[in-house]
Amino acid sequence: MKTKLVSDFLVFLRNSPTPYHVAQNLRTMLKKAGYEELFEREKWSLKKNGKYFIIRGGSSLLAFELNNIKENAGFLAIGAHTDSPCLKLKPNPTKEKFGYLQLNTEVYGGVLLNPWFDRDLSIAGKVIYKTKSNQIGTTLIDCKKPLAILSSLAIHLDREANKKRSIDKQKMLSPILSLPCGEKDFKDLIVSKIANKEKIEKNFSVLSSDLFLYDTQPPAVTGLNDDFISSARLDNLVSCYYACRALIDSKSEYNKLLICNDHEEVGNQSYIGAKGNFFKDVLGRVYKTPEIYSRVVASSLLVSADNAHGLHPNFPERHDENHRPIINSGVVVKINNNQAYASNADTCSIIENLAEKHKIPVQYFISNNEMPCGSTIGPITATQIGLRTIDLGVPSFAMHSIRELCGVKDISSFYKLLVKAYQEDVKGLYSSLG
Ligand code: CO
Repeated sequence: MKTKLVSDFLVFLRNSPTPYHVAQNLRTMLKKAGYEELFEREKWSLKKNGKYFIIRGGSSLLAFELNNIKENAGFLAIGAHTDSPCLKLKPNPTKEKFGYLQLNTEVYGGVLLNPWFDRDLSIAGKVIYKTKSNQIGTTLIDCKKPLAILSSLAIHLDREANKKRSIDKQKMLSPILSLPCGEKDFKDLIVSKIANKEKIEKNFSVLSSDLFLYDTQPPAVTGLNDDFISSARLDNLVSCYYACRALIDSKSEYNKLLICNDHEEVGNQSYIGAKGNFFKDVLGRVYKTPEIYSRVVASSLLVSADNAHGLHPNFPERHDENHRPIINSGVVVKINNNQAYASNADTCSIIENLAEKHKIPVQYFISNNEMPCGSTIGPITATQIGLRTIDLGVPSFAMHSIRELCGVKDISSFYKLLVKAYQEDVKGLYSSLG
């Protein structure tokens, strides 16, 4: 059944075509709930029961609530990532071939490329501009309407397409934008989007931009009994959205934190990625001496939230036979003893206990030995900060496709688990552990 919990998420998904829009929409949610925005270049004066958030680089966000200021009071952190694999525009974005104007794209992250063909694509992202009076401004745009299409080659011209269709990323990923003379029209479109958004005259120059292609087909609840959600970017906007909702909705006397990093899909290596110092810097400003910092971190837990692979009925052999998560059968705890996931026996016991207490279904994923799994921010953040971590998320199909699938029921289990985690006494969780 489509509840408000689900319909609000569909709106969020639709309005979040890029990591910048994700951070922007999380900011709106947090501000509405009374969280104060802090800026890294300014001095902070934090108060007990204060609710704060910081955005770095426009696309990574950290929020926290200081409900317990005792020196060894830990925090429950939930981590997720704001980016999704996609096609991005190169700085010189147009090229003309045989009278067609096409877009020049770069593949961002591990995209499942075939599903990008024959979709009504639009453009969104960040633009930095300079006005005639030398004012520099940054704005987010979203063209919303279908603008470009990556047409497939007809079956008659590619008889082998259903048997083998590999993709040459330089040759085949240039969507058609228009017939000739469109280059000026394209620039005009971007300029008028900025002018409308910022309510400024069109006589400015674009200094730089970071633009993404995305599918205009809106997210949907689907299936005979409305069992599923299909959309782009479920990995990892399910986790960004519900973790933020859980942070806002959970009344707690304990410290709560949310970290949503960009650049997970390309290895986390940037000043806003999980390998960077964003999380550590903020903790260092909240907990001012190394001793307090260490005591707090040792009393804290990170729930690294990211989607998992559900068992696909057409490909059951891809999973380990004893670990086959089914969509709508519960939140998936992800384990990999080679540390692609950070869950361990201690952190699994914490989640098992919590799930049992609140009757939340939990399943396990550990990969088939011949099928190495992906990774996520969990192990990286655990390494950077020294936090005990559990990796978990909702089971899904078609991860990294332009249209992914997850379960409606899992969404509510997941949200409930995150709310309950925020309400738990984190320090108490460790009392029987080493
Ligand atoms: Co992910």
